[in-house]
Amino acid sequence: MKIIGILKEPLYDNRVCMLPFAVAKLVAKGHKVLIESGAGSELGIDNKEYENAGGTLCTSAKEIFAQADLVCSINHMYNGEELTKETGFLGIFNPLYHTSELKRYAQNSTVYSLDLLPRSTIAQNMDVLSSMASLAGYKAVLVAANYFNNGLPMFTTAAGTLKPAKILVLGAGVAGLQAIATAKRLGAVIEAFDVRSSAAEEVRSLGAKFIEVEGYKESQSSGGYAIEQTEEYKLKQQELIHQYGLNADIIICTANIPGKKAPVLIKKKTAEMMKTGSVIVDIASEQGGNCELSQNNKIIKHNGVTIIGNSHFSKSVPAAASMLLSNNYLNYINLFLQEPEHDLIETSQVVKNGEITHPRLQELTLQQTAT
Ligand code: NAI
Repeated sequence: MKIIGILKEPLYDNRVCMLPFAVAKLVAKGHKVLIESGAGSELGIDNKEYENAGGTLCTSAKEIFAQADLVCSINHMYNGEELTKETGFLGIFNPLYHTSELKRYAQNSTVYSLDLLPRSTIAQNMDVLSSMASLAGYKAVLVAANYFNNGLPMFTTAAGTLKPAKILVLGAGVAGLQAIATAKRLGAVIEAFDVRSSAAEEVRSLGAKFIEVEGYKESQSSGGYAIEQTEEYKLKQQELIHQYGLNADIIICTANIPGKKAPVLIKKKTAEMMKTGSVIVDIASEQGGNCELSQNNKIIKHNGVTIIGNSHFSKSVPAAASMLLSNNYLNYINLFLQEPEHDLIETSQVVKNGEITHPRLQELTLQQTAT
């Protein structure tokens, strides 16, 4: 039997990493699950529901740290809590980008970050990035529609016909494809762009036009992710996006490169030349943003264009997000408990007993020390 702890998230996050149904599944396997009081309160789930699922309530996080073998949350970083020697932390920490935060773990803790899992078939049911990106792509379009000063579908009325909105989606990964599907359902005309030519077929199958820039550089070792492109390619790309951007009513930005600053795809000049009332939603804002003007966690108005920087739209659909996260966490924890030496567990390990173990993170911290 292992002891799993579930923490209440900080005030800025309404989600929870494990709903009562997932707790019940762990308890049924003979494990003890400690729940910090109020963990589900923002979702209207009271402590009683966790107790009915077999969970054990704790009045403070401190009680959980003192007992749990694995402490689970979405956001909680190590804050100097007293831990037992074997305590592990599980969360979604984006350590490839927030490398400096790793110093916090230079204590006796072992950390696993679900966003380090490979994007492989075997890891699909634990893939929190896909779960959250899917919700983010959906919500980004709804938020854009809310701020847009026009409708999305074509309206044919006795008073005249209104043209459908033109939406440009930058980055056709998980979030981008979901944004395309949502915008399509709402009746917009969509154009999409991605450096990976393999995205073209998926874009077209959703009924959007794929914009191509020639000269893309691929890497076999990037695990299906995009890599940084040459200066020549970037200039060509910016010019093409400028042309398409001027025609767009809404631009949804989702282009990211793991561990790197997001590529700047919309220059200030392009945003300033867009039509009054247009909207840019930048899901890549946490990593610097695809639009030169976007500010993370802010909604600004520039020259009549609304620019929304938000990389965590899944928090605005917390019930759906918690449902998907519960399944992702549960699948991961089951593997963790059955096969702690499994490749997937090792790949997602950031730190073991205070030492950075993840090869890409070791490289990044070495680079940081050298500069
Ligand atoms: P992401 O969030 O890292 O990036 C989003 C998109 O932006 C990607 O499609 C990327 O190619 C694109 N991008 C990066 N730089 C760009 C630039 N300069 N201009 C335009 N687009 C740019 O990626 P995400 O959505 O997390 O997916 C990454 C890859 O993993 C994709 O190939 C996806 O199909 C694959 N994947 C595989 C899964 C599986 O097999 N289990 C599950 C989820 C994703």
